[in-house]
Amino acid sequence: MSGFKLPPTAALESLVVFLWLLASFGKILSQENGFKVAMKEGSDAVLPCLISTAENIVEKIFDWEKDGQRVFIYRLGSHSNNGHTGQDEQFRGRVSHFQDQLKKGNASIKIQNVKMADSGNYSCIFPQLQLRETFYIQLVVERILKDRSGETRGASKPIITTPDKTKDQLLLQCEARGASPEPKVEWQDSSGKILPAEEPQVSERGGRYYVTINITVTKTGRYRCEVTQKELYHQIHSEALVFISEKLCENCFTRESLGWMSGTALAVFICYVVLAVLVFVSYKVLHSGLNSSACDPLL
Ligand SMILES: *[C@@H]1O[C@H](CO)[C@@H](O)[C@H](O)[C@H]1NC(C)=O
Ligand SMILES: *[C@@H]1O[C@H](CO)[C@@H](O)[C@H](O)[C@H]1NC(C)=O
Ligand SMILES: *[C@@H]1O[C@H](CO)[C@@H](O)[C@H](O)[C@H]1NC(C)=O
Repeated sequence: MSGFKLPPTAALESLVVFLWLLASFGKILSQENGFKVAMKEGSDAVLPCLISTAENIVEKIFDWEKDGQRVFIYRLGSHSNNGHTGQDEQFRGRVSHFQDQLKKGNASIKIQNVKMADSGNYSCIFPQLQLRETFYIQLVVERILKDRSGETRGASKPIITTPDKTKDQLLLQCEARGASPEPKVEWQDSSGKILPAEEPQVSERGGRYYVTINITVTKTGRYRCEVTQKELYHQIHSEALVFISEKLCENCFTRESLGWMSGTALAVFICYVVLAVLVFVSYKVLHSGLNSSACDPLL
């Protein structure tokens, strides 16, 4: 039927060669791709590693490395968390193995609180086996939006003011000053829902942005002004605690009496109340102690 003929042995040989090539290509591929673990910044990452024979490795040696750094060292029970030296500073106190998993040949590790700098290619090495075994795991740490005041030149806390308290409703103004790049400024309620606010007012001076956004509130609650700089993965906020009491008296100047207090002001206020109570109680205790026989009717 076909005009294509090969001696049977030659056909078999080329098939073997083809399969061998396929197998080695697959091996290279799997070694290059390895295993990928993607984690969000700040979370804990488990990097898997299982010896192919699944034998007990309690009395064995294994190493975890990353781009030339020593991540974790295990030597017949002595390891990086019980005195074995040589671990890279970056990983000190953050990497642990799973002791109860060792008898199953499981040399996985957990890295706590992963940082951007932890991203990279890890290898889990069993050096003493007949065929030295190495497993490759790529850790990808994904940046999240968070307060990065300490690490970037991002926007500082926005300033909340109440420019107009005399109207029926309370006007809250939030101002982000001198931020670069231009931030997004939004008002949110206590559940994080974005509230419809007025158009923000943006001005720019020397590459720095000044953004002001107003909102009118009519209900008691906690209001948050959120400033976001996506480019820097930076997000920072200030909060205002607003008390709006319903119409309680007819002689009030405004239909509703309005009040607002920032979070810190409230904390200071509570502090004073607690202090006053403490002072009062200790005064009473002291007083009653000194006059225990005086039978003061007030005590
Ligand atoms: C190895 O141990 C880790 C941590 O306990 C676990 O998450 C993982 O499933 C184990 N792997 C195997 C193959 O048992
Ligand atoms: C890690 O390995 C992958 C796949 O081999 C490669 O694409 C990547 O660039 C490597 N990353 C680092 C930081 O070396
Ligand atoms: C916010 O309200 C104040 C007071 O009424 C006003 O001066 C300011 O221009 C307003 N800002 C915006 C962005 O509308």
